[in-house]
This record gives sequence, structure tokens and C-alpha cells, in this order.
Amino acid sequence: MDEKCTAPVRLEEDEGFELSLRPRTIAEYIGQEKVKENLNIFIEAAKGRNEPLDHVLFYGPPGLGKTTLAHIIANELKTNIRVTSGPAVEKTGDIAAILTNLEDRDVLFIDEVHRLPSIVEELLYPAMEDYTMNVIIGQGPSARSIKLDLPRFTLIGATTRAGLLTSPMRDRFGVIVRLEFYSPEELKSIVLRSSAILGIETTPDGAFEIARRSRGTPRIANRILKRVRDYAEVKRDGMVTEEVAREALVMLEIDSRGFDKMDRRILLAIIDKFACGPVGIESLAAAINEDRDAIEDLYEPYLIQEGFIKRTPRGRVVTRLACEHVGREFEESAMKDRQGRLI
Ligand SMILES: Nc1ncnc2c1ncn2[C@@H]1O[C@H](COP(=O)(O)OP(=O)(O)O)[C@@H](O)[C@H]1O
Ligand SMILES: [Mg+2]
Repeated sequence: MDEKCTAPVRLEEDEGFELSLRPRTIAEYIGQEKVKENLNIFIEAAKGRNEPLDHVLFYGPPGLGKTTLAHIIANELKTNIRVTSGPAVEKTGDIAAILTNLEDRDVLFIDEVHRLPSIVEELLYPAMEDYTMNVIIGQGPSARSIKLDLPRFTLIGATTRAGLLTSPMRDRFGVIVRLEFYSPEELKSIVLRSSAILGIETTPDGAFEIARRSRGTPRIANRILKRVRDYAEVKRDGMVTEEVAREALVMLEIDSRGFDKMDRRILLAIIDKFACGPVGIESLAAAINEDRDAIEDLYEPYLIQEGFIKRTPRGRVVTRLACEHVGREFEESAMKDRQGRLI
């Protein structure tokens, strides 16, 4: 009934409430301990030297807190943040206008940084390296290129997969940070924090029930919390308990592991149509009539993390765990290569 509830990408319905739930400081940001520790050191060092922070690249599945961290960094640096995205910057003029309007040590956040047009990327290289920009003055034979100085700035880029970025672009980030899925305990803290902000009465068990079914993703945890609250208000006394959460999740067709209909479709397709695999991503996408990128970016990472799908050199295979979960026989040969060795 609620197809979108477990989508890790940002939906229109999230707008207002995501803003209110977004942590503003590193201290408020739950989990990703190693990342926070490192960022804290870099931020303090940059502040101490009155220098801009090194350029930072965040990568990882949607909904794990990349945009949030970009805002937190600017907040901690006490600088402005200018926000744009790869697809929004079409021409070199667009990026030139943004760069020249920055103030010293400002943060420029580029979401989906892998989608910048290559002419824009090329303009960014010297900007990132030594805060200069080459502009062409005049036309025809009298045209010449001059070097303009730019304000010193920090570029923060975000992308779902680091491999989508060109290597010259990737090389220009001094700090490259991979965000990991959150543990159920961390998500439980996030659910309790969000409940407090939204004025929802949630028991620790209720929060944990939501947490362990949120695919390691804060955005999904917050969205499920909202749905469970609605259910609790309509069907019960408004309190989010373990029992209420469980009932609501059944209604939302989110299973005991947090998988939704799409995950089950992927697993069942590999099992039933490809004898547990291996199957290439293109064939899988065609079999379930879904976009290849959506499978790779949105669904597969969590299925892999949980040990339900394995990527092998010959394609995706499902594991015994996955077969048991959806009530199918496991095909031993899927996990073996042509010589019968385990892969
Ligand atoms: N570490 C965290 N602690 C608390 N809330 C978080 C955390 N990370 C993300 N969130 C919540 O999840 C939502 C989605 O995070 P966002 O930064 O937009 O993810 P991304 O940019 O990686 O897709 C945010 O609005 C925020 O409320
Ligand atoms: Mg984002």
C-alpha cells in the first residue's frame, strides 16, 4: 500500500520534517564515529590556521547523512554554505558565477557531484587546486585566456558511489569519506531523538523495532516513525510501542528484516528466473522491469550488506539466507564456479 516508505531517496513529503530533524552540529550527529572524529580534527586544524578546510567528498547510499554533514561542516566552520548539484550546473558560466560570489573559506556543496558536465569539471580543477579560474577574454584570433583569483573555499561533494566520479575529480578531494549503514542501536537513538523533536511518545522497544527494519538508513527510520505515529494515533492511543510499531510495519508491507516489496521482487527474480544466479545486472533489471541504476544504488547495497546477495565475477547470486527468508529452496550450484569450487 505504501510503496515509497522504504525508498532511501528524498521525497517531497520529507521536505519540512527532514529539515527539522537534521542535526546541526557534530555532537548531535549520531553514529559514524570514525568519520566524526576525523572531521573534528580537520575542522579544528583548519580553524586554527585560518585556512579553508580541504575539499571533502562524501559517498555512500542515499539517506545516510551526506547532505547533513555538509551543512554541519559549514556550521562548525562558522562559514556560509552555498548549495547546488551536478545536474543543476549546466554551463561554465553557472559555476563561475557561484565561485566568484563565495566569501573567503565558504563551503560550496555540490550534491550528485558525479553528474557535473565535463566542461564544468575542467573549470573546477584549477579552482580546487589553487583557487584560480581561467577565463577567455575576447573572440577569434585575439581571444586570450587570463587567470582570475577566486576566494579560498572548500568544495564538499556528495555522490552515491565514488566509482561514478572521474578520477581527476576524485584526486582533487583531500578528504574522501565513505558513509556506512547505521547499526540498529544507532538508528534507535536517531528514532528517539526524532520522536523528542516531533513530540511523539515512543518507547525504547518501539524505537528499536523501527530501527532494525530501517535498512541501516536514518532517512527511512524517520519516515517509518512518521507512518507508525499516524497508525498509533488512528488505531491506538498515539504511543509508539513495540506492538504498535510491529502492526504498522505489517500494514506497510515491510518485513521482519526491513525489506519491502521491491527487495522481495529482486530476490525472487534471481531465485526463480535465474536459479539463484549468477545473473548480470542488465538481465536482472530487464527481468523485473526496473532501472539498473536504481537496483545498484538503492536496493542492492543493503541486500549485500545483510548477506542476502553476493556479487561475484560472474554476476549476482542469492545466498542460502535469502532463500530461507523468502521460503525457497537454495540452489547449491549458484555458489560454485564451473569447476565446482565455492565462489
Ligand atoms: N547521523 C545522523 N543522526 C541523526 N539524523 C540523521 C543522521 N544522518 C541522517 N539523518 C537524518 O536523515 C535525513 C537524511 O539525511 P541526508 O543528509 O539528507 O542524507 P543523504 O544526503 O546522504 O541522502 C536527515 O534529514 C536527517 O534527519
Ligand atoms: Mg543528500
